[in-house]
Amino acid sequence: MTDPGDFDAAWLPDAAFRAVGARRSLVRGGPDLLADTVHRELADACARFGGEAVRGADAGGAGLVLDLTGDNPADEGFTLGRADGVTTVTASGGRGLLYGLFHVVRLGEDAFAGDLPPRTHRPALATRMLDHWDNVAVHPVTGQVERGYAGGSLFWADGEARGDLDRVRAYGRLLAACGINAVAVNNVNVHATEARLLTDRLGDVAAIADVLRPYGIRTHLSVGFATPMLLGGLPTADPLDPAVRAWWAAATARVYEAIGDFGGFVVKADSEGRPGPFAYGRSHADGANMLAAALEPHGGTVHWRAFVYDHRQDWRDRSTDRARAAYDHFTPLDGRFADNVVLQVKHGPMDFQVREPVSPLIGAMPDTRLAVELQVTQEYTGQQRHVCWLGPMWSEVLRFRPAGGTSAGRLADGLVAVSNAGDDRFWTGHPLAQANLYAFGRLAWDPEADPRAVLDEWIALTHPGAPARLAEGLHAILDGSWATYEKYTAPLGVGFMVQPGHHYGPSVDGYEYSPWGTYHFADRDGVGVDRSVATGTGFAGQYAEPWAKLYESPDTCPDELLLFFHHVPYGHVLHSGTTVIQHIYDTHFEGVAEAEEARRVWAGLADLVEPERHARVAERFEEQLRSAREWRDQINSYFLRKSGVPDARGRTVH
Ligand code: GCU
Repeated sequence: MTDPGDFDAAWLPDAAFRAVGARRSLVRGGPDLLADTVHRELADACARFGGEAVRGADAGGAGLVLDLTGDNPADEGFTLGRADGVTTVTASGGRGLLYGLFHVVRLGEDAFAGDLPPRTHRPALATRMLDHWDNVAVHPVTGQVERGYAGGSLFWADGEARGDLDRVRAYGRLLAACGINAVAVNNVNVHATEARLLTDRLGDVAAIADVLRPYGIRTHLSVGFATPMLLGGLPTADPLDPAVRAWWAAATARVYEAIGDFGGFVVKADSEGRPGPFAYGRSHADGANMLAAALEPHGGTVHWRAFVYDHRQDWRDRSTDRARAAYDHFTPLDGRFADNVVLQVKHGPMDFQVREPVSPLIGAMPDTRLAVELQVTQEYTGQQRHVCWLGPMWSEVLRFRPAGGTSAGRLADGLVAVSNAGDDRFWTGHPLAQANLYAFGRLAWDPEADPRAVLDEWIALTHPGAPARLAEGLHAILDGSWATYEKYTAPLGVGFMVQPGHHYGPSVDGYEYSPWGTYHFADRDGVGVDRSVATGTGFAGQYAEPWAKLYESPDTCPDELLLFFHHVPYGHVLHSGTTVIQHIYDTHFEGVAEAEEARRVWAGLADLVEPERHARVAERFEEQLRSAREWRDQINSYFLRKSGVPDARGRTVH
């Protein structure tokens, strides 16, 4: 058994349940697994705070009644109201009931004060999924968790399933409390050991699914496209080959025998060396639809990733543009995917950089189901050593209106993210990165939600009853932390400039001459990538209006994306009134100063935060500062040397 003291309570500390636990509550309806979960939550809270939790029978005097009507089990919504001194949550399905309970927990005493007119809450997006890039066997290059910065995997250790699933149970509970309803338990890069999760290691997946199910979470698996060859002994993985199709159908049927509510497959194909349908002259629709056919009789879904590009480029070739790739590959296939295929599109056209435009593929395939993919794990945003609150970035993505009409968040069926959680005591390495995990779930529930309000929720739940000074301090540290990180790293949307391989820390030319297609093209005259239609790669033309026109010209392109779309001289004057080179100097000095200020604020909160948590963040701030200064100095020196233009304010460039 894992000792509960081994992991942090995150946004579900006991004290967050004080208001519900102090009352008499009644859970009606069922039998239902999730209604039982709701009852258990209440019973635990009541045991701590003196209330009483009743299941099934009528109980006079209940202050909280949760009613499962069972009318429509798939409906995840709930209606909350309060009249005559009774707060009621009514839901058609078990998930709705559970989400209703956690909503009441969020409201705390406010859920029990005065009348509340009945209001229905329902998630905007049907799938709210975390992908774990976890390997079962430690991979020689990427380790236990690819791009993981929070210790080992929650599910796997050294080639085996973890026998003790207490932590997974606690994880499921945390995820349910922010509305997440799906988890994929293994890396999209499916290696040999992990391929067998689909076959002889299926029991391990079923054990995880059993633990997550009471929290309304369906389990998914990443699968490799060539598995019929690897495990089935077939000579081909051609998606139109009848033997291949039969292999997948049989393997999938066995999965459903073990896991009746299995969610489906996540697939990375023809991407960064993974096998895919191109090898057989087949399209990605052929590939995805073959898996969809295997899943369809059982109600499963294929999440087919659109992260397909040429990773064997030559920097001299200015016509190949990695940013164009997803749109070029997939838009011709619109309308050709089966109904149970969801195209999973990274939010930006490159790769989870601190600043990218929204992918032009979002909104460009009206006849294809869409999931937007975010990266909660901070691969390119400080690897959970730097504080970087991503709620505002994701909110910008989700509110972006590709054709000036419906927002990205409303166009999508699902929101998916690469998880940042691991077996670290604080779940996420950096304790403040818990806010990102929480926000992901809440924004998937409501993509229009104000990220500041989401942060308020997280602060209040994580630190119940804390004085205003703590909330103010956390806002001071977190609100602008994404902007701060952007300031001291790659400027004006140009991206990368990271150390190759592990992607931590600066290396301005780290990827400049490599085959990965991530170039900044800095020379003595200027910097940036010309992606205009008129003189560049034409990427800007992949957008619908008004964006295509806006991005096409450096005169109208937003400053923060200027170098993503244009190659400009160092003397180019931004809308802000400053030149590109001076902007680089200024933001790099500012970014470090802001990080220093955040560290100072955190130090001042020591009396309000439990010592272990405070110490962990304090220690991370030391590393953030060291790294931020390194970024500042490398970037500023590089551009001073290239441009020959000194800092107008005469600061020392190291
Ligand atoms: C990035 C990341 C890889 C990952 C890939 C993906 O390139 O660095 O580790 O496999 O994205 O999304 O598939």
